[in-house]
Amino acid sequence: MKLTASSPIGIFDSGIGGLTVVKSVMKSLPGEDIIYFGDTARVPYGIKSSETVKEYSLQITDFLLKKKVKAILIACNTVAASCKNEIVAKAGNVPVLDVVTAGSKAAAAIVKKENLIGVIGTLATVGSAAYENAIKKIDPSVSVYSKACPMLVPLAEEGWIDNEIAVKTIELYLNDFRQKPLDALILGCTHYPLFKDSISSFFNNPDMKIIDSADSIAEMTKELLSSKNLLNKSEKGLFNCYVSDKPQRFQALAERFLGQSINRVEVVNMR
Ligand code: DGL
Repeated sequence: MKLTASSPIGIFDSGIGGLTVVKSVMKSLPGEDIIYFGDTARVPYGIKSSETVKEYSLQITDFLLKKKVKAILIACNTVAASCKNEIVAKAGNVPVLDVVTAGSKAAAAIVKKENLIGVIGTLATVGSAAYENAIKKIDPSVSVYSKACPMLVPLAEEGWIDNEIAVKTIELYLNDFRQKPLDALILGCTHYPLFKDSISSFFNNPDMKIIDSADSIAEMTKELLSSKNLLNKSEKGLFNCYVSDKPQRFQALAERFLGQSINRVEVVNMR
């Protein structure tokens, strides 16, 4: 496929969570057009098998390729952990970036004293050991301690991010992390950055950096596009959103999260 500077960037997630990546990309690459797909009919992915996640993800990749994107950003950790290679193969010459690689890079770059990184994510992400493998590829001497925190996704969807249930859930999941001298904790799920403040006050440890991969993938995208001469120099890019169900709810949440009104969210039937 011919890639041009004026082509859009495609970003996708199982639902709304990938908007954290959209926000960072809008900030560091304001001239880029963005096409976002949120699979709202089939979220959550984190409790599904890798075969199912792969099937859904390849359908979305197809959709984005038909929109002639110049890069695909996998904003969903579960997708990145389950089937990145298959997406890369399908995308051909369209470059694919993902949040697991981005988060691992950011964490490995700051590890210093203890050489220990913590990772939290969905059952699928933690079960795949994707973060561990990606971090060890960058620096084999780093140790990784991971744990799945599946309840945090429905809590985030409900908006319960700092009430007593959220605080108690964080405590139950993360208690054993507190005994470990972590240099960094990766929030390896699109929904977890919403708990950043609660997690940070739970640890109350200024020596431990909390990493969410959204900023990191945005920076990687900028470097990639500029190295390929594909940066869009226009003043303000367009943002178009597609979902597989319930566009009105998505639109309201997205506008609140991005702090701006957006074009009408369109429904695409993936079945
Ligand atoms: N987007 C998923 C992830 O980052 C979380 C939500 C889900 O389970 O689909 O792993």
